[in-house]
Amino acid sequence: MSAPRTGRIGTDSVPRAFDDHAPSYDRLVGANPGYHDHLRLSAQRMGLPDHGRGLRLLDLGCGTGASTAALLEVAPEAEIVAVDASAEMLAEARRKTWPPSVRFVHGDAQDLAAAGVTGPFDGILAAYLLRNLPDADAALRSFRDLLRPGAPLAVHEYSVRDSARSRAVWTVVCWTIIIPLGRLRTGRADLYRYLWRSVLRFDGVRTLAERLRRAGFVDVRTQTMTGWQQDVVHTVLGRRLPDPESAPLPPALSELETPPMGLAL
Ligand SMILES: C[S@@+](CC[C@H](N)C(=O)[O-])C[C@H]1O[C@@H](n2cnc3c(N)ncnc32)[C@H](O)[C@@H]1O
Repeated sequence: MSAPRTGRIGTDSVPRAFDDHAPSYDRLVGANPGYHDHLRLSAQRMGLPDHGRGLRLLDLGCGTGASTAALLEVAPEAEIVAVDASAEMLAEARRKTWPPSVRFVHGDAQDLAAAGVTGPFDGILAAYLLRNLPDADAALRSFRDLLRPGAPLAVHEYSVRDSARSRAVWTVVCWTIIIPLGRLRTGRADLYRYLWRSVLRFDGVRTLAERLRRAGFVDVRTQTMTGWQQDVVHTVLGRRLPDPESAPLPPALSELETPPMGLAL
């Protein structure tokens, strides 16, 4: 493992910060009720047909593989490419048992071609990634270009900006649980303070949905989670514009029950 990073964490140094925290990451998210269920919910909301048979899926910012496992559960027959820029997070992921259909790649989600990752993909899951990228708009456009026409992107993210209640819940959970627990488990709290700050700074869910539309996604909708994460963690779904002559959208996604935006905030 490389020498611990010093200085304040920013979007340019996030993967390096995750390197330092990789050995404790699974234990910390394991203590967060709903973490794995909610990832699975976002993967389910992608509406992938037929257990993923014949599909090629991309998990961006896969970390130690929690989001990869969620995709695998929902689409066990799919081929899954899972990418992360933190070598240590990937090393934790690779230590687990995976079927041969899952492949882990070390690379930057903003320059996947450089890592040898090329499309087309039948679905992309980006869980807790977008907030950490310096240019989210450019990243979304590049994700869109990797998708087959009509294929879904699920952005699974914290988003609290649109609601005073959500911002308050987030701050209380961070300062009473996440930051103290992170410090206790790892001896340092820099990544967890960055998490708190970065979420407060990040898009509200309406802005995030608009960002997807601006990047060329259609059929954009948002849904939140249950538990303390209600109106704090969201799935923001969109799909690449389908070919005009292609079949209608699969019912799984086109019939998703989406509460009006006001209810989701
Ligand atoms: C909070 S973790 C989420 C991991 C996993 N998706 C999950 O749900 O548990 C965010 C991950 O994004 C990765 N990451 C941050 N910036 C990245 C980038 N530019 N390219 C690829 N991965 C990146 C980090 O290294 C980290 O492993």
